[in-house]
Amino acid sequence: MVKNNISANIYKAPPGPRGLPIIGCFLQMASNPLQFLTNAAREYGDVVHLGAIGPQQLYLIAHPDCVKHVLQENPQNYTKGENFQEMKLVIGEGLVISEGDSWRRQRRLMQPSFHRQQIAAMVNDMTATIAQMLERWHQMERGATLDAYDEMLLLTQKMLLKTTLSIDTSSDTTELIQAWNTIYKFLSDRLWAVFKPPISFPTPKNRQFLQAINTLRTTANRIIQERQQGNDAPNDILSMLMSSRDESGEGLSDQQLHDQIVGLFSAGFETSGAVLSWIWYLLSKYPSVERQLQKELSTVLDGRTPTFEDLPNLKYTKMIVQEAMRLYPGAWVYARNNLKDDVIGGYHIPAGSMLLLSPFVTHRLPAFWDNPEGFDPERFSPEQSANRPRYAYFPFGGGSRQCLGDIFALTEIQLVVAMVSQQFRLNLVPEYPVERAPLLTLQTRHGILMTLEPRVDLGQMNQQNTQKALITH
Ligand code: HEM
Repeated sequence: MVKNNISANIYKAPPGPRGLPIIGCFLQMASNPLQFLTNAAREYGDVVHLGAIGPQQLYLIAHPDCVKHVLQENPQNYTKGENFQEMKLVIGEGLVISEGDSWRRQRRLMQPSFHRQQIAAMVNDMTATIAQMLERWHQMERGATLDAYDEMLLLTQKMLLKTTLSIDTSSDTTELIQAWNTIYKFLSDRLWAVFKPPISFPTPKNRQFLQAINTLRTTANRIIQERQQGNDAPNDILSMLMSSRDESGEGLSDQQLHDQIVGLFSAGFETSGAVLSWIWYLLSKYPSVERQLQKELSTVLDGRTPTFEDLPNLKYTKMIVQEAMRLYPGAWVYARNNLKDDVIGGYHIPAGSMLLLSPFVTHRLPAFWDNPEGFDPERFSPEQSANRPRYAYFPFGGGSRQCLGDIFALTEIQLVVAMVSQQFRLNLVPEYPVERAPLLTLQTRHGILMTLEPRVDLGQMNQQNTQKALITH
């Protein structure tokens, strides 16, 4: 179906909506990107031409086999660097946006820190951070409301700071977190903006953005220097990165270490935080799924804190996470540029085009998903998953550039879902307007306001845990 080295004479251009000169379909897309791209795939098919923005042709790649071609079969023809110029100011030449040999070397040096057994060693830090949040929630009044998105973002930020840098998350991490939030908001606001003043213009927003980058860099550099000068090497991702060596015995330079750490911030918590907030929304909307989850938690854990070894037995919990990421994949779209002409799905794609790959769109194609808008974790049972094409579902991307943190993310999300659900039910505030916001990650426009309903009080839980500990000793 898919061939290379092709001439435009043989293969036709893909169909697509009529765009305007110079801006193509940008305005239609910017007004409601999720709906626009979903409709485009349903109306025009596997590969959709979205016109040209300036000199660059834009395509949506929707069919799983076509996604596979780009990510896995012909990745050497695709780069992602051009689409990240502003992010480059923040994360420099780190893994997330580097290309070629530089990317390959960094990936080899970083990969061992994200192996399953390393993630297993981080689980205690993750569960301790979740427990801190739950303790805070128990101190709130019964029926208190909170924004599930803010809470989950703060939690995933703290889990990442603890596991990457051993930063004590009960202490004040506000400055670092605020700096990152400023950067994220700035980049998100510019994503769909028609007019973007150059970052060098001294507007108040530009100044705030550059100052936040400075805070992030200074903090990362200070932490790396302290670690290099100190004697202790805590068991965290920074220590692993500092001791990682390639075949020639070379490690990461100070600049590369810095870029990796800041790059992990950029990749590692907005996505997981957004996915978690959608999970609480979905569970409050689907009480039968929630009941099934409770059944599994009490059978497998019986009130205990989950361990890494428990995770394979929390099968339904994992299916909930997978299904939530089908409907609301944190990374809802990403882009590639092709170096040479290509043929995808039988269509000619000229060199230098921009291709959009959207898990959000492909995860809702009716040809691969019955009732695509419905929330049904059973889709991820082994029986129902058996004949599904690999790239009908790709929340973590694929091929050689597949998400480095996929096991980290799935582990932390499964732990949060289990621990929070053991102690609380989160109910969506009636009539609260939950509106999807496709920014750098897929989040909500006004957060997700929910009320807290404790399932047990803290005293009761502590008593139960003490009794269990006495029985097992
Ligand atoms: C639910 C959570 C997450 C989702 C949905 C997600 C999704 C993705 C996707 C789709 C990509 C590939 C992008 C592309 O090909 O252009 C990616 C790359 C990456 N992710 Fe994640 N991610 C998540 C969590 C994490 C976490 C927790 C970390 C680290 C702690 C992480 C680190 C990375 C890195 C370093 C890359 C770049 C890999 C490379 O280019 O070689 N991610 N992620």
